[in-house]
Amino acid sequence: MSASVLTAVAWPYANGPRHIGHVSGFGVPSDVFSRYQRMAGNEVLMVSGTDEHGTPISVQAEKEGLTTRQLADKYNRVITEDLQGLGLSYDLFTRTTTGNHYRVVQEIFLALHRNGYIVPKTTTGAISPSTGRTLPDRYIEGTCPICGYDGARGDQCDNCGNQLDPADLINPVSRINGEKPEFVETEHLFLDLPAFTESLGKWLSTRTDWRPNVLKFTQNLVEDMRPRPISRDLDWGVPIPLDGWRDQPMKRFYVWFDAVIGYLSASVEWAQRIGQRDAWKQWWTSPDARCYYFMGKDNITFHAQIWPALLMGHNGQGDKGGEVGPFGELNLPDEIVSSEFLTMSGSKFSTSRGTVIYVRDFLREFGPDTLRYFISVAGPENQDTDFTWDEFVRRVNFELANEWGNLVNRAVSMAAKNNGAVPAPTSPRPADEELKSLARNAFDVVGGHLSRSRFKAAAQEAMRVVSAANKYLSDQEPWKLKDDPDRRDAVLHTALQVVSDANALLTPFLPHSAQKVHELLGGTGVWSAQPEIREVSDLDGSGAEYPVLMGDYAAEQAKWASTEIEIGRPLSKPTPLFAKLDPKLGETGPEWAPIQD
Ligand code: MF3
Ligand code: ZN
Repeated sequence: MSASVLTAVAWPYANGPRHIGHVSGFGVPSDVFSRYQRMAGNEVLMVSGTDEHGTPISVQAEKEGLTTRQLADKYNRVITEDLQGLGLSYDLFTRTTTGNHYRVVQEIFLALHRNGYIVPKTTTGAISPSTGRTLPDRYIEGTCPICGYDGARGDQCDNCGNQLDPADLINPVSRINGEKPEFVETEHLFLDLPAFTESLGKWLSTRTDWRPNVLKFTQNLVEDMRPRPISRDLDWGVPIPLDGWRDQPMKRFYVWFDAVIGYLSASVEWAQRIGQRDAWKQWWTSPDARCYYFMGKDNITFHAQIWPALLMGHNGQGDKGGEVGPFGELNLPDEIVSSEFLTMSGSKFSTSRGTVIYVRDFLREFGPDTLRYFISVAGPENQDTDFTWDEFVRRVNFELANEWGNLVNRAVSMAAKNNGAVPAPTSPRPADEELKSLARNAFDVVGGHLSRSRFKAAAQEAMRVVSAANKYLSDQEPWKLKDDPDRRDAVLHTALQVVSDANALLTPFLPHSAQKVHELLGGTGVWSAQPEIREVSDLDGSGAEYPVLMGDYAAEQAKWASTEIEIGRPLSKPTPLFAKLDPKLGETGPEWAPIQD
């Protein structure tokens, strides 16, 4: 039976082009997962967009001498192009500065407010003494009062995962100019997290199947349920729809509050864009839907604690009860799939340290599938992982070019030369049956891993089929079977069948080359669909235009099953699937990101 699968992908800040660290956290894993789910016959809704509010945007705008709006427009487009180039198959990749998003955020907030989960409080806020302006929490750095970690930020400690107040930090300093912040009183709205102690705690305690890194974090979270501010002293964000707040130019929702609601607003926008207003409900209010969230580990708190609390509050399911909000009873996350960090020479990928490899540059030189494969098989799935050009070269040359590319090339070119078409199988021998059943069985094994977001294991199992097929060809030596064309046909037929199966198994990882292999095997039409950039206008009628990613994924032929290859399909001499990289690249890096010692 087909299931409804929501793939909710973390929203990248529109404050710069994406680097490979970003897309290893949220991008590639969510797409591999979604492509697998579609191939398996499930109905996937994959949504996200650029995260365009808050201080990350205003700080960068100032640096570039642009308004926040101009900066958001600029990087919304750049990021949309980066993700399209990688082949990330979003049903909708939108942005948070749309009229629809503002409306959905405000409605969710009002539901929470009505149900009593929002409390105003006077707090101390930080001010930069030299400029007199508000200093956002995350731009204050100091020592974590809980674990002693030195690089804790004013909003959160990335080491122990606890939420912090800037005033709690030991020796707080501004990350912008190093000065010591001054603290003043200011009024803010808080999400009453303590009013979810029981409901959220109970729900979290049943989430035993999450990845260990996520579980560890969430256990800490339940113990630290303090009210959490959801407004900021900032002029850039979603306005707060309450009397006394609405018209204050310096009060806006906190960027994380509006961003997580983006999953819902993007789904609502998608439904409108396909002309079926209520279509989003299949993933949000149907109890059978499965909801998966993909992100880097610094996002766990917001997805495992804050977002579920917002959903519960809207649904009237917190400890204070309440009424179901305007969107109906919304589904809570089923899985939080969080990646660790991709580092380069030990340090977290960062623009400031200069160790940055942009997706755009990478795609221009190496194409999308090599990066997708590398991230899947060698990415930071369970631990921080160092990216090295050396390993990249090795993976591409030995696994993609020598193993997979070579298998495709040998099987197709021999059959093209000898038969000019897919040969008919003649009486099979045990070795043929053995290889074919290995490939057939791999669908369950690899699919089992993919459905649990175990991408490394999945890619390795798929590659085992490729290795087995290479070994089979070496053992059977069809090139020596000139005098036994029947046997040669049987071997080539088997090899082509297994190439076809392996291609299906590798499609979630390598959708672009999978299309090519489909065509090399004589197939026509779309095997694996790709996202398109469409220029749309805002649904609120404001006339604003922006690019979105959407795609016609239902039209693709890719299936998660062994499909019998069609005998007699014409074959021609293949061109290589993957170019081998110069091993020197492993020592020097490319010109645009040279290895520094
Ligand atoms: N913009 C955030 C980041 O890059 C992620 C936001 S995910 C969201 O860390 F869903 F909350 F938007
Ligand atoms: Zn800490």
